[in-house]
Amino acid sequence: MKKVIYPRKIIRGIINLPGDKSISHRAIILGAIANGETKIKNFLFSKTCTTTLNCLKDLGAEIKINAGDILINGKGLFGLKESKKILNAGTSGTTLRLLLGLLAAQKFKSRITCEGSLKNRPMERVLLPLKEMGAKIKCDSNNIFEITPSEIFGMKYKMPIASAQVKSSILLASLYLKDHEVEITEKKLTRDHTENMINYFGGNIIFNEDKTKILSSSGENLTGQEIIIPGDISSAAFFIVLALLIPDSHLILKNILVNPRRMGLIKILRQMGAKIFVKNSYEIYDGELVADIEIFYSKINGIEISGQTVVDMIDEIPVFVVVCLFANGISVIKNAEELRVKESDRIMSVVENFNKLGANIKECEDGMIIENKFDFKPVKSIGHKDHRIAMSLVILFLVTGNKLILEDAECIDDSMPDFFDYLETFF
Ligand code: S3P
Repeated sequence: MKKVIYPRKIIRGIINLPGDKSISHRAIILGAIANGETKIKNFLFSKTCTTTLNCLKDLGAEIKINAGDILINGKGLFGLKESKKILNAGTSGTTLRLLLGLLAAQKFKSRITCEGSLKNRPMERVLLPLKEMGAKIKCDSNNIFEITPSEIFGMKYKMPIASAQVKSSILLASLYLKDHEVEITEKKLTRDHTENMINYFGGNIIFNEDKTKILSSSGENLTGQEIIIPGDISSAAFFIVLALLIPDSHLILKNILVNPRRMGLIKILRQMGAKIFVKNSYEIYDGELVADIEIFYSKINGIEISGQTVVDMIDEIPVFVVVCLFANGISVIKNAEELRVKESDRIMSVVENFNKLGANIKECEDGMIIENKFDFKPVKSIGHKDHRIAMSLVILFLVTGNKLILEDAECIDDSMPDFFDYLETFF
């Protein structure tokens, strides 16, 4: 699908955004294995979250959609049933990795497959710890994972990479532990939405003081809850960058998720000189903060980012590079090698596509060096099958004030199907 995008001058307004993608996946999974009714408002009906929803329905979960709200009639930890068909995680890494953990602990056999770029993304990172817990999972040459019932045991696991999907997969399996516990240690902290939501549903996750150690045990008391999913900070990032870089802009984003593990971009933009204010914050349940974010057009300075900050803004890095192109001075991104195993190799995708359009970005093994100059070179059309790269290209064009014909625009449905409708509110 081609999409024509015309430049816009000023970004002004107050908007509410669709629900956070990570929280939407987790809410339906936990709702499906809790006891009793779960009601979810502002669920993200993106392609990836709908994929998780369909897999859960295939597993017998009673899920209804009523005027945009999700109602789940949870039958408890052992309420799911063997699926008649092979489950399909599509291109959604969150679906596949989280469901592998959930399925590993069921008393029935399952098969789950995937499509597109996900076929080539690393899965050993989740299979190894699950197997250490006793899971029996095989993957054939057609990317079909076969999970045979087995008893799940506790373990102590030191995360070799910073991945919330891997951590969440282990935690979902750990809900089925009988007299054991799982202890997970993280060197770099990753988003803690699974832990927070398990506890909200009545589970047993305990953290140490600096949250580097997580202890999890049986989820037998999980009980259905009501959740209003906050706006997705990763989708908000595109609008934050637009408002920041287009003169005279002033934007307020209402009720956005501001969990500290997702605030890397905002923290760094403020250090770069951005006038961004986080206001009216409140907690929806322990650990999950929501707030309004106010953004004014600002003059920005270049910066170097590395370490924990990179983990806290991992999905926002492609659009962060757009900011760096217009900052005062050179910017450097280090320790971001995880970007190479996302929906595309995002270091390569950014460097190739942005440089084709006139940027001067140097590719490094674990990041990029971004010069603050952009000599726009017109192209007939451009596009990318990775949703966050495609949206970053749109933002880059809008900031430069050029017309864009975007190819493969349908990939944006993965995380924000109404991205263009939101943009049009400013046109
Ligand atoms: C996610 C975790 C991150 C992130 C992805 C969503 C999640 O992936 O990039 O978009 O919901 O747990 P990794 O776990 O691979 O870092």
